[in-house]
Amino acid sequence: MRISVIGCGYLGAVHAACMAKLGHEVVGIDVDERKIEELQAGRAPFFEPGLPELLEEVLLTGRLKFSSSMADAKGAQVHFLCVGTPQRKGEYAADMRYVDAAFHTLLDSIEPGNVVVGKSTVPVGTAARLADELADRHPAAVLAWNPEFLREGFAVKDTLTPDRFVYGLPSGQAGVAAATALDEVYSVPLSAGTPRLVADYSTAELVKAAANSFLATKISFINAMAEVCEVTGADVTVLADAIGMDDRIGRKFLNAGVGFGGGCLPKDIRAFMARAGELGADQALTFLREVDDINVRRRLRVVELTRVLVGGSLLGKRITVLGAAFKPNSDDVRDSPALSIAAQLQLQGADVTVTDPEAIAGAQRRFPELMYEADLTTAMTKADALLLLTEWDEYRAITPESAAAAVSSKNILDGRNVLDPAAWRTAGWNYKGIGRP
Ligand code: UGA
Repeated sequence: MRISVIGCGYLGAVHAACMAKLGHEVVGIDVDERKIEELQAGRAPFFEPGLPELLEEVLLTGRLKFSSSMADAKGAQVHFLCVGTPQRKGEYAADMRYVDAAFHTLLDSIEPGNVVVGKSTVPVGTAARLADELADRHPAAVLAWNPEFLREGFAVKDTLTPDRFVYGLPSGQAGVAAATALDEVYSVPLSAGTPRLVADYSTAELVKAAANSFLATKISFINAMAEVCEVTGADVTVLADAIGMDDRIGRKFLNAGVGFGGGCLPKDIRAFMARAGELGADQALTFLREVDDINVRRRLRVVELTRVLVGGSLLGKRITVLGAAFKPNSDDVRDSPALSIAAQLQLQGADVTVTDPEAIAGAQRRFPELMYEADLTTAMTKADALLLLTEWDEYRAITPESAAAAVSSKNILDGRNVLDPAAWRTAGWNYKGIGRP
């Protein structure tokens, strides 16, 4: 198939490379010329394990090209819309400017029989609106909605071998044509047994909103349990293991800690609440407000725990924050709990140094007032407290002995509950976890 991918961020760049890997001829298009130059040269503009190797491999085949001109979408049979839908400034709702702009520019390149496939996370109702506009301009083209469920850090694997495909389709012949095109695009994973669900537009859009809401709820649930554990002396990690053994609950996404961040879960639950409000169904989602509040409260709690850890006052205390990315194996710092905690500590008078294996450049752009140090040992030197806030493997592997040689006081806050409390305490550390005695 000849495919265009509009938007080459975390979603689009990976999608474009993976579609070429599946054997298609792909053009990736983005308005950011610097990004396009990087991608065309085989360099991933962000850290994503496996992507540089994949780019190199597929660029060599000649099946993948990048362009900053939307006119280059012409000739493709299937056009994937992969642009971002960030939170609007000062509001909960999603900012649809980028989707709308990309879609309207793309209209000039559409030909009869083309299929436009939305992958961006959008408010329910968007697909129907765009389908109407498409029908006005190009009655012989069709729109499908095919939400994406990839996780950063596993994006290549999640795109090539997803858990499922969801096709949001119009009824009748147009829907059949779109399904046939998508089946051809995904023929390799489909023939390997990946399930495929067909739905109407609204259901497909809601699947994505519901999936991220459920994941966020699961994390906030266990963080609420951590709050209760903290006042009862119970251990939330054992609690999670025990309830997680029930298949109906499952252990995944039950790690208590500093809460969820990133470019998806926080803004997606807010956009979902905003959209439900517009549709008069706000009551159905009031629980997501609580999910959000619990999540925000975790960050404040870590600031308070740190104050106690360093003896009651943050003023002039040297704090080393291990991790800036919103999760390991990513350089994404959007709504990163680690950075928001670091900034709050600094605001309250602490002297904060942040380290991260991949995310320092991005963090520096967002929080230039913080100090950054790439070398782990140097970052820990003379610290009054270490805060492990993003669970990179290199931080999980730190031993109490090696850290003791660097710091000035043996205080550690394990914001992701990934260290062995007994080992650290035996080595003379003042260890504090989240929701652990
Ligand atoms: C999330 C979803 O997991 C994907 O399925 C979805 O496609 C994507 O959003 C999206 O909408 O594009 P992602 O943002 O990459 O993916 O990150 P997650 O792995 O979901 O982690 C989100 C946050 O939750 C991270 O800050 C992570 O540290 C935190 N988390 C995760 C916890 O605090 N506890 C857990 O048990 C799991």
